[in-house]
Amino acid sequence: MKKIRVGVVGATGYTGEEIVKILAKHPQAELTYVSGKEDRDVKIQDIFPYLKNSLDLECRAFSFEEAAEKCDLVFLSLPHTVSQEFAPRFLKAKIKVIDVSADYRLKDEAIYEKFYKVKHKDLVSLRQAVYGLPEANRDKIKSATLIANPGCYPTGSILGILAGAKKGVLDLDSIIIDAKSGVTGAGRKAEKALNFSEVNESFKAYKLFEHQHVPEINQELERATRKEVSVVFVPHLLPINRGILSTIYVKLKKKTNTAELIALYKKFYQNEPFVKVYEGGALPEIKHVAHTNFCDIGLRVNESKNLAVIVTAIDNLGKGAAGQAVQNMNIMSGFDERAGL
Ligand SMILES: NC(=O)c1ccc[n+]([C@@H]2O[C@H](COP(=O)([O-])OP(=O)(O)OC[C@H]3O[C@@H](n4cnc5c(N)ncnc54)[C@H](OP(=O)(O)O)[C@@H]3O)[C@@H](O)[C@H]2O)c1
Repeated sequence: MKKIRVGVVGATGYTGEEIVKILAKHPQAELTYVSGKEDRDVKIQDIFPYLKNSLDLECRAFSFEEAAEKCDLVFLSLPHTVSQEFAPRFLKAKIKVIDVSADYRLKDEAIYEKFYKVKHKDLVSLRQAVYGLPEANRDKIKSATLIANPGCYPTGSILGILAGAKKGVLDLDSIIIDAKSGVTGAGRKAEKALNFSEVNESFKAYKLFEHQHVPEINQELERATRKEVSVVFVPHLLPINRGILSTIYVKLKKKTNTAELIALYKKFYQNEPFVKVYEGGALPEIKHVAHTNFCDIGLRVNESKNLAVIVTAIDNLGKGAAGQAVQNMNIMSGFDERAGL
């Protein structure tokens, strides 16, 4: 089968690096273009030496002409606001785009402006973008030309809630998400608060009630259930490199027990290649999913309080970004969804 030609714009960042790593071994995609922001005469395998012997590609500052000539599909692993400058040019040239940033996730541009502090400049593409959570939107992803790849926290949160919400067993007014992320979630760029000595041996909550992923989680749960959703979301910074553990507290709409809720989740996700629901009330850990594209889910019900506690674990750079982006490419291209993953 002919391979598709793929580029990664922003290949020197954490998510870009991870996409490059997956594509270097992908059976049906050929990595033909990589770029960073800095103009440097360097090969990608010299930046990431573990790629020596599997890739031989120049990594320079972005050139649209070069990328457009060499690619059928591009991943944009760029900061938000930068992606929306790049995506429309590729779309106009009939090149498919998977954007890992937040630029095309929020359908309401006023909410985008409120949380990202800039006006959206590409409303035409925003209207056509498909939110790339395969477990919720697989059919739309198949024919999409622009994918808004989900955020890392939203992926772990939505997958933990989606099954119970769609099946009507969760009280959507009572969702509390307590989520903890490793430091790579903030990207490779230097920032004082993310220094090793600031993060190591500590643990903190941040951006209470104002994190930019709150409207994304609400939007997608509302779309799935057609009901109003307003979650309480408290993110925390874990002193580890990668992984997100989300503990979700939610009231049940009717009496149920742990075994019944697990059975419901298992049935809902039975055909999903990257969601694992644990048996017998076992709970997932970050180390179970690190460096994978899996979302692992554990559940227990406190019957006296009529409360479910749902724990999900993902790798923020895997299912939370690069792995999911490649999963979306596979779906858009008609490949086995698990190819390269
Ligand atoms: N990190 C995560 O866990 C995660 C998860 C889900 C989604 N995301 C989203 O994915 C996107 C990328 O995140 P990241 O963590 O990979 O960030 P990052 O590590 O900071 O990497 C950003 C990349 O974009 C390039 N870049 C920055 N400004 C540019 C510009 N004006 N023109 C061209 N290239 C530019 C950088 O190049 P240089 O290296 O040359 O500066 C680098 O390759 C962000 O929007 C983020 O919100 C991140």
